[in-house]
Amino acid sequence: AIDPQFHENREQVDEHEGHVVWGPVDEPEELGIHGTHVAVDFDLCIADGACLEDCPVDVFEWVETPGHPESEEKADPTHEAQCIDCMLCVDVCPVDAIDVDAG
Ligand code: SF4
Ligand code: F3S
Ligand code: ZN
Repeated sequence: AIDPQFHENREQVDEHEGHVVWGPVDEPEELGIHGTHVAVDFDLCIADGACLEDCPVDVFEWVETPGHPESEEKADPTHEAQCIDCMLCVDVCPVDAIDVDAG
């Protein structure tokens, strides 16, 4: 599962579509965590898609990740600022790849 303390245990190494990427990153095998309020561990995501289907405010968008061992697309929290903290995505992800900091 995603480390809920990732913001303490990892470093910001990049930005993507306006959100932080938390390392380590070593493309294409290691992609890190995307987002902060809504954080998706790209190295765990298997492209199940339940988060995209269930999010009531469309926070996620698919991003292509060719060559990653778990899946070749990931749910990117492109619109994390729209999140209403319903926690549905956290509940439905089969590999616990998502952390939402509801404060
Ligand atoms: Fe969407 Fe709810 Fe997840 Fe926020 S917590 S990203 S609103 S499903
Ligand atoms: Fe990935 Fe989990 Fe969503 S596997 S696509 S983050 S439901
Ligand atoms: Zn991203």
